[in-house]
Order: sequence, then C-alpha cells, then structure tokens
Amino acid sequence: CGIVAYVGQKEALPIIIKGLKRLEYRGYDSAGVALIDHEGLNVYKKKGKVSELENHLTEKGTLSSTIGIGHTRWATHGEPNDVNAHPHYSSNEKFAMIHNGIIENYDVLKTDLKNRGYVFQSDTDSEVFMKFIEDIHKNNDCSLEEAVRLALHKVVGAYAIVIMNIEEPDTLIAARKGSPLVIGVGKGEYFLASDATPIIEYTNQVIYLDDYEIAVIRNGSLQIKTIENVETNPYINQLEMELEAIEKGGYEHFMLKEIFEQPRSIADCLRGRLDAKNGRLVLGGLRDYMNKFQNADRIIITACGTSWHAGLVAEYLFEEFARIPVEVEYASEFRYRNPVVNEKDFVIAISQSGETADTLAAIELAKSKGATIFGVCNVVGSSIARATHAGSYTHAGPEIGVASTKAFTAQISVLTMMALMLGYQRGTLTESKYVQLLNELEKIPSKVEETLQMNPHIEEISAEYKDARNFLYLGRGYNFPVALEGALKLKEISYIHAEGYPAAEMKHGPIALIDEEMPVVFIATKDNSYEKVVSNIQEVKARKGKIIAVVTEGDTTVKSMADHVLEIPDTAEAFVPLLSVIPLQILSYHIAVMRGCNVDQPRNLAKSVTVE
Ligand code: G6P
Repeated sequence: CGIVAYVGQKEALPIIIKGLKRLEYRGYDSAGVALIDHEGLNVYKKKGKVSELENHLTEKGTLSSTIGIGHTRWATHGEPNDVNAHPHYSSNEKFAMIHNGIIENYDVLKTDLKNRGYVFQSDTDSEVFMKFIEDIHKNNDCSLEEAVRLALHKVVGAYAIVIMNIEEPDTLIAARKGSPLVIGVGKGEYFLASDATPIIEYTNQVIYLDDYEIAVIRNGSLQIKTIENVETNPYINQLEMELEAIEKGGYEHFMLKEIFEQPRSIADCLRGRLDAKNGRLVLGGLRDYMNKFQNADRIIITACGTSWHAGLVAEYLFEEFARIPVEVEYASEFRYRNPVVNEKDFVIAISQSGETADTLAAIELAKSKGATIFGVCNVVGSSIARATHAGSYTHAGPEIGVASTKAFTAQISVLTMMALMLGYQRGTLTESKYVQLLNELEKIPSKVEETLQMNPHIEEISAEYKDARNFLYLGRGYNFPVALEGALKLKEISYIHAEGYPAAEMKHGPIALIDEEMPVVFIATKDNSYEKVVSNIQEVKARKGKIIAVVTEGDTTVKSMADHVLEIPDTAEAFVPLLSVIPLQILSYHIAVMRGCNVDQPRNLAKSVTVE
C-alpha cells in the first residue's frame, strides 16, 4: 500500500492525489483521502485506481484543506471496495487514519472492542487499529499522541500509520514498524509518504522514520520520539533523486522506458566501481566485510520474485569464480523452516524496493544466528538497506513499472562484481582471466544498447503469439534463471500462463505439453551447454512446437531450426544473462500491450510487497 500525507500552507488535496499516483505501483485496488475542511473531518474513498477517486472528488466540488492524508491500497484483509479503502474513521469521526502493513492480533482486539460496543464498517485490520487507538484515548483521557504510543505497545505486526484529529487541525501523528515511512521537510510544511517519490518535487530533505518511532508534526514543527517516549534527534538526508527519473519521459509506459534505460542503469551501477583499464574493481560496501566474505563457509542468498532470479544467476557466478558453495532461498521459505545458519555464513539479501516483508524477516532471522548480512537494494535508505550489516546499492534509479526490468540487470551487475572480486581475492580466478572479464564487463552497457535494437523485430513476433494460451521458456546454465525470469515477465503482465524450466528437464514433464499451439522460447547462446540445447530444440521441433530462440550473433545452426531467432552480441558466458533477458522483457512487454493489459500496473500485483 502507499501512504501520502501533507500539512502546511498549501492545498493538501492536489499534493496528495499527485503523490498517490506516484505511489500507485505499491497497490491500486482502492484509494482514499481525509481532509479537514470547513465542514469538519471528511473521508472520501473509492474502489479502483486513484483516478476513480479523483473523479469522485471532482464531483464533490472544491475541497479546501491545508492538511490531509491519502492512501492507495493493496488488499490484505477484506476485498477491494469503497468501505475497505482507507482512511478509516474512529467511531466518533474525530480521527482518521491510514495504515500500511498488517496487524496480526487484530482478531483479538476486534472481538474485545465489539464486546464493548464498537461497530465496524469494514473487514480491515486497519479499522480495528484505528478504533483501538480511539478506545485507549477515551479510557485514559489522554492526548491522541499518548493513545497512539500506548496502542503501539499492544499491537503485533507491521505498520506505517498517519493519523489526523479534527481537534488539532495543524497536527499529523505518524509511526512506523516494519513498513516504510519517509518525512519530507519543506519550509513550514511536511510531507509524509511510503517512499520519496511523492516528495521529491517539493523538497530533497528527508527523514527516514525508524521502527518504533513516532513523529508528531504540530504547528509547523516536527518532533520524533520512540514508543518509550524518549525524544530522538532526527537525521536529515539529502535526496539525490531527480524528478525526471520518476516520469515517463516520452515513453508510452514506465516499463518500456525502464527497459530502454538499461544501458545507462547498468553503466551507473558499474560507475566508480569498475576500472577495467587499471584492472580494478571496488565495491565500497564490501570493504569492511571482505574478510568475512572471503572466508565464508557458505553464501546464502535470499530474495523474492525477480530478485530471487538474480540470486540464482549469482549462484552460478559465485560458484564458478569463487568456489564457495551457494544456496539460494525464497525468503518466505527460509524464514519459516528453521534453517541451519551460523556465524560463518555470508547472507546476501537482494531486493529492488528494500521493503519486501519476507526478505526483511529472513534477514532478521539470519542476523539472530550470527551471520553477516549484505544487502543488494535499489531504493536508497530502504528498510532492508538499513537492516543489513553492509551492502551495495544497484543505482538503477527509481523503477516504477511493477514488472522489474532494469533493477534485475543492475542486481546482476552488482552480484557479478562481487563474484569477480571474491574470486580474485581468493585466488580462484587468475589475474589474467580477472582482467579479461573486467574488460568484457565494461562493454556490457553498449552491448545492451545493441540488443535493444531488436525491439521492432520482437514487436512483429509478438503479434504472432499474442493469443497463445501457454508459453514455455527453456535455458541451461546461466540462462536457466533467465528462462524463469522470461516466463515470470510474461505471466505478470500479459496473464498468459508461462513456465520456465532448465532445458534438459523438459523431457521429464513439460514435453507432454508441446504441440503446434505451444510457443517455446529457447535461450540458446554459444556456451558450454549449447550443443545440448540444440538437441532440446530438435526435440521440440519434432513435436511441432513453435520455436523462438535467443542466440549468439551469427549463429546459423539454430537459425535453420527455429521459427524466429533473436540475436544478441557475443560476451563472456557469465555475463550472458545481462543480454539474454532483454529480448524476453521486450517480448512480454509487446504481447501485454497487444492484449490490452495494463503493463505498468498488472492486476493483483504490487511492486513492493510489505506484507508476508
Ligand atoms: C513483488 C514485485 C516483483 C518483485 C518482488 C520482490 O512481487 O511485483 O516484481 O520481484 O516483489 O521485490 P523486491 O523489491 O524485494 O525486489
């Protein structure tokens, strides 16, 4: 879910609506705002996108308020409808609250409140949270601020909240635990949001609220306290994000823009770290932890979704170059199965948003067992970036499209640098090979540029397959995770069922699916397993499957067998995923557009999953 709030001298509503649109990638099944206008504290909410809410508000006429809170929802408790949308009122309609996260003990709290006469409009845990605060406020005859503080001691789960009170029309109270909250500091005005994107056009001064902190903005000044009532000194960060980075810049969709940004985002990621000419590679974040990394018994990589796929690529990289055993774990599985972890393990957590709840929990678990945790995050200042011992940012810039593209290639770029550094330090990678690989890595951005030239060709192919009901993606070695990622991209945004498989595993099951209706995407670049993949292509061809093959430039063997080939530049085998994934991103993009799907905001998904 996404949170935006404003208090200052300006009209709050336009700021909130614009902010919610910027946060829509976090959830978009319903939206709402609360304002204090001349009639009092009013809540307006609507099922659907922020634009539905906007239309609803336009019908209401002019709404003037210099304070307000807004929310865009990704449903957890209760279906997406007007009632379950936020903000939620207190029973006396004096308070309104927005909440991001999940309250785990809401059931117990709700039963108790119900027994004492409270009535609930919605099915949400958030309304329970609001009324729980209200109840404490009433029973203790204390300030709202104090009631919030007391309530936070009792709720179990994750939250970022912002509350307004009709009796204090210049005050916002906010708190966080486990869900992000950023405070933008303007001139006599404050902005609160789930991330910095709604804030950037007004101020570059931000404070990241910490877990168990409460912020009170009253009459133009900010005070931060812990839930133990101890005042803290907020640290003001300078944001470096550019406004242009979060706008579409002439592209039809964010996803397409982000696909085309990859030459630059990979270059940004390598910049200042890779110096091929002098045979040098430096990751500042690793400096203090190189010893631990080098001497680790094992590397555990934990992540979700696309980031997990980047982790799989890293498994191949680390094992090949550094000869340290690697395990790649879904964060959600790892955290719940009592894993064997100890101080000799080096854990790498990969996350674009840096907010994924399961990944965060996996980190806490590994930390409690004494492991060293290294983060590979895109969002600067995010929860994961702050929860880890050290880390390297991917520097891909804000990724807005829900389907991850440039963040994936930037993650692989960081992990590749880590693997090369590690291999070199451990002596498992010879100096000459190391230098040769550094030189090749430096060429990747321009090779990505070259790969992008295939866009019109891929668009033509997409037209032919847009009505397919299933797709199979097959690859081996470094291209196996790419097959998984290609399939994930297609299902996420086009809703076509797709599966990724290691090509050789095809004959143990998926081959049964192949007939003349089945498009099979092979990633068949010239590498160690090329000959084997060619045999797999023949097996599909013999069963009349349609073959789309990503091949190395100049390949003629596969060309003679496949229905379509997509040629990518030659590079080191270990770097192929950075190129081979590009045509697959483009293919899914065009197919989804042709099917009339909302590419940037696919149904049911959210970019940042801050709930388990
Ligand atoms: C969500 C997104 C995916 C993403 C995954 C992990 O499911 O829709 O695109 O890969 O979360 O997110 P993270 O921010 O941790 O990389």
